[in-house]
Amino acid sequence: MQRMEEMILTQGKVLPGGILKVGSFLNQQIDSVFLREMGEEIASLYSGSGVTKILTIESSGIAIAAAAGIVMGVPVVFAKKHRTSNVDGAIYAAPVHSFTHGIDYQAVVSTDYLTDRDTVLIVDDFLASGNALHGLVDLCGQAGARVAGMAIAIEKCFQGGGDELRAAGYRVESLAMIDSMTDTEITFRR
Ligand code: G4P
Repeated sequence: MQRMEEMILTQGKVLPGGILKVGSFLNQQIDSVFLREMGEEIASLYSGSGVTKILTIESSGIAIAAAAGIVMGVPVVFAKKHRTSNVDGAIYAAPVHSFTHGIDYQAVVSTDYLTDRDTVLIVDDFLASGNALHGLVDLCGQAGARVAGMAIAIEKCFQGGGDELRAAGYRVESLAMIDSMTDTEITFRR
């Protein structure tokens, strides 16, 4: 998506440790006009795929997932990162290791919201080493739901998670794919 690349080039900032800061339009302040474009792009990529539900993980994936869900007309479910008082009853839970933050947590979703009748599109803001997505795939597997594919705002290809998921047979669509980045230059995969 050319506009995503332009947004990254004009507003993104590369931080030490291979982190791309996109707080001005994606991660803290959200550019709502652009958010709608992202939703439309994701919906167009997955039109005709029989998606019945979108699954993401709190918190930054929720806005993009909701934008896609509105255009596709399907519910959006988000996994919580730990069991909270408002996730009661039966749950699916998957362990996730966050490479960026160096922590482990459980991705948790109520069994009410994912079932074996669902065809799921997994959506997230960043794809780095892919651990969060593996956790969401695990949750779908526990529910017996089919995974139609994944839609990601920004893939950091140099961390390998996206190519690993593709090699495992998943459809992974990323609105921007970054092959490399330094303080002064960002190179996209096209
Ligand atoms: P992985 O799931 O692909 O393995 O990635 P990783 O564990 O490394 O990512 C952990 C968190 O860091 C995720 O958010 C992810 O969105 C975010 N992240 C990874 N790389 C970048 C980056 O270059 N820039 C930005 N802005 N974020 C990045 P999270 O901690 O779960 O937090 P949030 O969703 O609540 O914001």
